[in-house]
Amino acid sequence: MSQPMYAIPGSVAANVPVEPAADPTVAPVARTVADVLAQSQVEAVMDELDQDLVGLAPVKQRIRDIAALLVIDKLRLNQGLAAQTPSLHMSFTGNPGTGKTTVALRMAEILHRLGYVRKGHLVAVTRDDLVGQYIGHTAPKTKEVLKKAMGGVLFIDEAYYLYRPENERDYGQEAIEILLQVMENQRDDLVVILAGYKDRMDTFFKSNPGMSSRIAHHLDFPDYSHDELLHIGDRMLETMSYRFGVGAREAFGEYLVHRLQQPHFANARSVRNALDRMRLRQASRLFTERDRELTRADLTTIEPPDIRASRVFGAGP
Ligand SMILES: Nc1ncnc2c1ncn2[C@@H]1O[C@H](COP(=O)(O)OP(=O)(O)OP(=O)(O)O)[C@@H](O)[C@H]1O
Ligand SMILES: [Mg+2]
Repeated sequence: MSQPMYAIPGSVAANVPVEPAADPTVAPVARTVADVLAQSQVEAVMDELDQDLVGLAPVKQRIRDIAALLVIDKLRLNQGLAAQTPSLHMSFTGNPGTGKTTVALRMAEILHRLGYVRKGHLVAVTRDDLVGQYIGHTAPKTKEVLKKAMGGVLFIDEAYYLYRPENERDYGQEAIEILLQVMENQRDDLVVILAGYKDRMDTFFKSNPGMSSRIAHHLDFPDYSHDELLHIGDRMLETMSYRFGVGAREAFGEYLVHRLQQPHFANARSVRNALDRMRLRQASRLFTERDRELTRADLTTIEPPDIRASRVFGAGP
C-alpha cells in the first residue's frame, strides 16, 4: 500500500474513504486552516521561532508563507483535489552567525509537524562529508549522508565548495549529480538546504543551473543591527540565567560598537562568544573573593568591569 503523501494525525489521503469520527479521540478530517494548525501543532513552533529569534522579519515571513502553502495543500488533499508535492529545497544565504543553522533546525520541525517529512531531524554537512579523496569514494559517501538525512533536512554548509571548476577532475561534481537526482526523485521525504555567503552562492547557482532550478526558496539572512545584537545578548544572558548589572548593558552596547568595526565579526555568534568571555571574567572576579558568601545576585550578575576589560576597549585581552 502506498503511503499517503502527508501523514498528519487527523488528515487522510485523498483516496481513503472518510469514516465519520465515531471515536472522539480521533481528530476529524481537517476542513479549516485552524483545524490543520491545531492538529499539527505547527503554530507553537512558528510562535517559538518568532519569539526566540530577534529580528529576521523577512525570514520569518517566508517561513509563514511556506507553512501556509503546506497547510492549504493539506486542505486540498482532504477535499480530494490534486495535490502536487511542492518542492521545498531552499538556500539560506548570509554572513556567519546570522541564524542560518538555527532557522534550519526550526524549519525541519515545521516540515515534520506538517507531515512533509517523516522524522524532522537535521543532518548538517560540509563538502568533506560528501566528497571522497579518491576515485570511487564519493558516491558511497554522499549516499550514506543522504540515507541518514532521509525523512528530514539535509543542511549543506558552504555548499559552493562542492563545485571547483579550477580542478577538472574534482569529485565534488559527482556529489552534486547524486544530490540533484535525489532532490528530484525523493523530494517528498527529503528537503535540502544549501547555506553560505550570498555572493558565492550566486556564482555557484550560475555555474550549476540544475541545482538552481531545484531550489524553490531563497532566504536571505541580513546582518543584525547594533540594536538587534544587543537584544540577542539580552536573550542569551537570560537563557543562561545571567543578567546585566547597573551600567553593564550600556557597556555591552559600547563593546558592540567597537567589535562591529573589527575584522571577523560574526553577528550573533560573536555576541555569544563575547558573553562567554564576560562570564569567564565574572567568575575570575568572584573567585578572588575567597571568604565572602556569594549571593544569587553575585552569581548571576555581569558587571561593567567584566565587559570593559575586553581588548576592544584598548585594555587587556
Ligand atoms: N535572531 C537571533 N536571535 C537570537 N539568537 C540568535 C539569532 N540568530 C542567531 N542566534 C544565535 O547565534 C548563534 C549562531 O547562530 P547560527 O549558528 O544559527 O548562525 P549561522 O548563520 O548558522 O552561522 P555560521 O555561518 O557561522 O554557521 C546561535 O547560538 C544562535 O542561537
Ligand atoms: Mg551554521
